[in-house]
Amino acid sequence: MPEDQILFQPMGRRVRSQTDLTLLELANRAGAGIEAACGGKGRCGKCRVKISGDASPPDESERELLGAEKSESCRLACQTYVKGPASVWIPEASRLHRQVILTAGSDYNVELDPGVRTLDIQVPLPDLQDPSADRERMLDTLNRAWDGDPGIEWETPLSILRGLEGKLRSDSGRLSVTADREGKILDIRPGNAAACLGLAVDLGTTTVVVYLVDLFDGKVLGVQADMNPQVADGEDVVSRISLCQQAPENLTRHSRMVRECIARLAADVCREAGADPGRIFDCTVVGNTAMHHIFLGLNPAHLAMAPYTPVVSAGLTVRSAELDLGLAKEARVYLPPVKAGFVGADAVAMAMALDADQTDEPTLMVDLGTNGEIVLATRDRILCCSTAAGPAFEGGHILWGMRGAPGAVDGVRLAPADGAPELSVIGGLAPRGICGSGLVSLVSQLVAAGAVTPDGAFAPGIPSPRLREGPGGSEFVLAVAQETGTGRDLVLTHRDLAQLQLAKAAIHAGISLMMDEMGVSRISRVLLAGAFGNYLDPADACGIRMLPGVTADRVTAVGNAAGAGAVMALVSRAQRTRARTLVDQMEYLELAVHPRFNEAYLDGMAFNG
Ligand code: FES
Repeated sequence: MPEDQILFQPMGRRVRSQTDLTLLELANRAGAGIEAACGGKGRCGKCRVKISGDASPPDESERELLGAEKSESCRLACQTYVKGPASVWIPEASRLHRQVILTAGSDYNVELDPGVRTLDIQVPLPDLQDPSADRERMLDTLNRAWDGDPGIEWETPLSILRGLEGKLRSDSGRLSVTADREGKILDIRPGNAAACLGLAVDLGTTTVVVYLVDLFDGKVLGVQADMNPQVADGEDVVSRISLCQQAPENLTRHSRMVRECIARLAADVCREAGADPGRIFDCTVVGNTAMHHIFLGLNPAHLAMAPYTPVVSAGLTVRSAELDLGLAKEARVYLPPVKAGFVGADAVAMAMALDADQTDEPTLMVDLGTNGEIVLATRDRILCCSTAAGPAFEGGHILWGMRGAPGAVDGVRLAPADGAPELSVIGGLAPRGICGSGLVSLVSQLVAAGAVTPDGAFAPGIPSPRLREGPGGSEFVLAVAQETGTGRDLVLTHRDLAQLQLAKAAIHAGISLMMDEMGVSRISRVLLAGAFGNYLDPADACGIRMLPGVTADRVTAVGNAAGAGAVMALVSRAQRTRARTLVDQMEYLELAVHPRFNEAYLDGMAFNG
């Protein structure tokens, strides 16, 4: 191997060795994805690799995390520096796999009234009777065709005036004119029937989904999705914020990464639909407040420290050219308002899509993730909060946890006769790990079987060949090495039980405090939004007592509600106004300083009872 190269296998990616970068950073440079649930802080233990080469020695905490696997060559990539050439093997369990992304849920039902329109007009050519200027003749015709504000004052940027005379004459005065409803001309082209497209973006911490929409009729022409490329640097918003805090160049890099991802998805969705990204004139982007800030290149530092202040909370319209999204030159990008540091435009979009402002009965809307965003709406009030559930629902801090990617166990049933687990695995593959819905499902089954006690321990004295003492204490064997895709036993440990307890207690506490605050004792409907909510079996969620005051028959998965809200704001100006009103109606409940949060949190820990 060349002297200064590091080879990452099995991908065969190479990168120049650099002693001031960790192996994790070098792997990212090489495009060899390694799981990094804690963002490289040496806390999650997901980035294990095998090294042959001259590596820095492990410290005490790394040794502890490596546990039984401790050996000369097994290391945490984020804690290891290498000198000279090296070969690094990334085991299956440490490889970054693409998540199964939820794109469904873009159905919407609103009156079509987009903020940008393309009109076909026929402009009379000048003659000696009417030698008026081309711009004025075009605007005269446009005024007659325009059914908006009759007194509109047209703005024609210089870029539009340049070449106007040629366009006007090249097809005998026939023009397609694209303008926003405030009167700014965005594009002119000769001939008729040019497309007018919009792009709605759901910018999540883990995934990015784009919807291409025809603004003539509001039809969704295509959907594309990908992982948020920032995932390689850390899975949760807090790790991303702290990276941006560390150095301004990290903010610049993360902002660029996500904008490039959106630009690529826009190009892909247009290619599939046979459309031109240069005809996308309007774009809406919804995301949590940290993603919103990083996308815009705004420093998110203060979102992570009390009093959790955003740089801006009002809705914003920005020129797409400032963000390099590869859309039409004069396209605009609209970001709905955010409510608070941890309740972003995605929560507002979800509340809009699920009609939080039109409900007659107590309705709970929950988007479960590292931060659970919760909205409780009644006829008179809308309350929202964000509760720090931690990464367990996305597979973080769980020994064999992983995101909902192929090979992840996403559901478990225990056979009534002998308690043997029947696994549902994404993609029908041999299991590689367990994702959030699988974890909740397994624990719910174990609780029902009495193998896990209400306080979250494996029940002592239960005779089961699946329960055993592992290196770190009691564990339940879900699949033995010969059955798994990693060649190692797939187990649920007592520490995993504790992590799930913490996550579900945070959700339980957030919901109960909101119910208290609203004086609601019974929830009529629970709408679970987002990927985790979509795959979660309501009976399992109720089986571990995640949702207080609710039975499984009242719970419905609603798909990507934030994406639906983004599409609604794209096709209807009234929905943008509604988002503004909604954000004012939404009352924010700050759980971090709530006097009864600890009590509610402790109460939420029990798995049943
Ligand atoms: S321990 Fe290395 S990324 Fe978490």
